[in-house]
Amino acid sequence: MNTHTHPFVGRLLLPGAKLGAASVFLGSAASAGQILSIGDMNSSYNRNIWWMSIAVIVMAIVIFIGVSYALFYTVNKFREDKHTAEPDQFHGNNRLEQLLIGVPVIIVTIITILAARTMAIVNPTPTDALHVNVTGAQFWWAFEYPNSPLQGGTGTVLNGNELVIPAGRQVAVTVTAKDVIHAFWAPNLGGQRDAIPGSKKTFQIDTDRPGVYQGNCSVLCGASHANMRFKVVALPKAQYDTFIAAAQSYKAPAPASASERNGYNIFMQGKASAGAAPCSSCHRVQGTPAAGQVGPDMSFFGSRNTLGAGIWEGKEREAHIQPWIKHCAAVKPGCLMPAYPNLSDQDLGDLEAYILSLKLPDAAAYWGKVPVR
Ligand code: CUA
Repeated sequence: MNTHTHPFVGRLLLPGAKLGAASVFLGSAASAGQILSIGDMNSSYNRNIWWMSIAVIVMAIVIFIGVSYALFYTVNKFREDKHTAEPDQFHGNNRLEQLLIGVPVIIVTIITILAARTMAIVNPTPTDALHVNVTGAQFWWAFEYPNSPLQGGTGTVLNGNELVIPAGRQVAVTVTAKDVIHAFWAPNLGGQRDAIPGSKKTFQIDTDRPGVYQGNCSVLCGASHANMRFKVVALPKAQYDTFIAAAQSYKAPAPASASERNGYNIFMQGKASAGAAPCSSCHRVQGTPAAGQVGPDMSFFGSRNTLGAGIWEGKEREAHIQPWIKHCAAVKPGCLMPAYPNLSDQDLGDLEAYILSLKLPDAAAYWGKVPVR
């Protein structure tokens, strides 16, 4: 299966994941049954939690067998039989009572030490971690790569609903929210954190295995809670470096056709005759005057593969771009983007052509380079 999967875990997950208590099988039309698993041993976070769980489960099994044995032994030894009407009666046994207090105290102490040890391993953020700010909003995710010297860059990169990370490196994720409480969870990569307005929590995710992983909002947050998914694309280091360098120096390409030019104009200035406000008041496109921060960043929308926070992927995504622009809330419950019912089909087509033209250079594009896990 892969290098870090423990044989036992591999067997647990392979027959459809439903056998594994540590696995959740979550299929959707768009993501064709990507396996969400906290038993994914490619993540050091998951490995640490897994081995601690095994230790506690083994202790529980030993205790179960011990207590069961003591019970049956006692019942058997002191049971009423045909020779005696009543079993021997006694009360007060200091040694037994000391044992019954002492042994559980020792067991609980061991579990406490194990838990504290695992927390001490899993929680601190290594100094060489890649830092990414994550903001949950109704109903999408913003991923921001701050302008930190650790990332060797000079600009702040933003992306919506698709988080690109390097495989084999710890990623320190600082989670917050814009409106209500959401929760960030990519089970194959690590634990879960609530995204709470006004609070910032940093924790780590990581994977050794390049691939595309599924993430979800895991706290009920409103009408489209279930439509608040994201992808984590873990690239090999060299590919990640190419991506982040291109993203940092990215300037949106100028419109290359009459159609894209009309789309660009509507995006930047709106269309008064159709009652359409400019897209740029809510969306940012790096290297253009569009600097809106309300909605997802559109800088390399053309290089993305998902729409509507993971509702549609690939070809399905393209088929939904125009309906999305025209009446967002009709295709995604609770979508806060205004409707544009009076834009003509021509204008919608031109807007689609423009936003699809917003692409990273091919070498820096991150889709199709690693398998979907
Ligand atoms: Cu956001 Cu549930």
